[in-house]
Amino acid sequence: MLLCFQHNLLGDLACFFHRSPRLFQFHLYRIQISHLSRFLRSQDGIDVRNYGHLDGLPEAKRLGATLLGVEPTDVLVGGNSSLSLMYCCILFAHAFGLRPGAAPWSHEGKVRFLCPVPGYDRHFAICDTFGIEMIPVPLTGAGPDMDKVEALVRRDPTIKGIWCVPKYSNPTGETYSDETVARIAALPRAAGSGFVVMWDNAYAVHDLGPERIQLADLMGLARKAGTADAVLLTASTSKVTYAGAGISFLASAPETLARFAKHLGVHTIGANKVNQLAHARFLPDTATLETHMRRHAAILAPKFRCVLETLEQRLQALNIAEWSQPKGGYFVSLDTQPGLARQVVELCTQAGVKLTPAGATFPLGQDPENRNIRIAPTFPSLDELQQSMEVLVTAIELATLRARSTGA
Ligand SMILES: Cc1ncc(COP(=O)(O)O)c(C=O)c1O
Repeated sequence: MLLCFQHNLLGDLACFFHRSPRLFQFHLYRIQISHLSRFLRSQDGIDVRNYGHLDGLPEAKRLGATLLGVEPTDVLVGGNSSLSLMYCCILFAHAFGLRPGAAPWSHEGKVRFLCPVPGYDRHFAICDTFGIEMIPVPLTGAGPDMDKVEALVRRDPTIKGIWCVPKYSNPTGETYSDETVARIAALPRAAGSGFVVMWDNAYAVHDLGPERIQLADLMGLARKAGTADAVLLTASTSKVTYAGAGISFLASAPETLARFAKHLGVHTIGANKVNQLAHARFLPDTATLETHMRRHAAILAPKFRCVLETLEQRLQALNIAEWSQPKGGYFVSLDTQPGLARQVVELCTQAGVKLTPAGATFPLGQDPENRNIRIAPTFPSLDELQQSMEVLVTAIELATLRARSTGA
């Protein structure tokens, strides 16, 4: 195994980098495409081939409402990417002001955002693009450290938002506790003007085992707290049907949604309603969605088992790394000894195993302790995964030994 680090003897083994489903998972939805010609009119008689209905078809809104735990009237249906909706939210808030009465962030000088870490690199990339300063906040296993979050928001009105992946967070796999969700729902009251909660529920229905973990109802709590216009919930079917050809959803209070739609109507005449209808017909109710997601879990659970068992068998007794034990989602988060993550990723690259760059899970790609590595086991086959995991754990052992021998 050591030789392969020098000479890439194993060839290109596997890619842990992609947070993508494997082809096999796409077969679960295959039937739809060949029947598209049947899907020309929605239940309400809307011809889905035409322009119009910027906010989406009613039956697609119902699917979004199921994923996000809100009412269909709170939902706007977008194109294939929820990330694109998030980008638009930040863009519109920056240029025009998103909440009713809120000034554009660009008029306010400095803008800061809270970024629970480790987190999703593309959230950080959006902030970076708009020159928004990112403030890392530690995750606790039950969501962000809310004492820190509340203290920061109270004393700094330039903090305009927080990124949240509340269920099976990317990459830690944690789900926010009921208390955390309630405190986040109240946050906009303590914050300066124009504050938004970016609630990216990308893994809302991605349980790996039979247990379906319930996330508290952010929208309900926000309504009670009077902050519903400041919460922006997103989800998509990227990890339900097709990663590059699903549909996405944005939910908020009607006033915020209407302001968003006003700007969106300049950006586009409407999303792909043929695809919305195909999805709504394929996943018409909660029971069908749950059955479908159990099929995904049957493909994914053995891959997560493989990762966790290899880590346990090879590293547990050595006590040289820590890792998450996710009950769902797409990732395992691994912490090496401080200072070693970049070296481990480099060793794996030399051996033909591609990992997410070390640091990617922190704002500006800078992990202050250089120890977090995100493992995304969904894309490789089980065989590739097993071999790649052997490479990864050997790289961790090697890097740790080197550090100990040099006293670094
Ligand atoms: C937390 C999170 N949000 C959003 C996305 C992307 O979602 P979409 O395909 O809907 O843009 C991902 C993809 O990996 C993700 O991990």
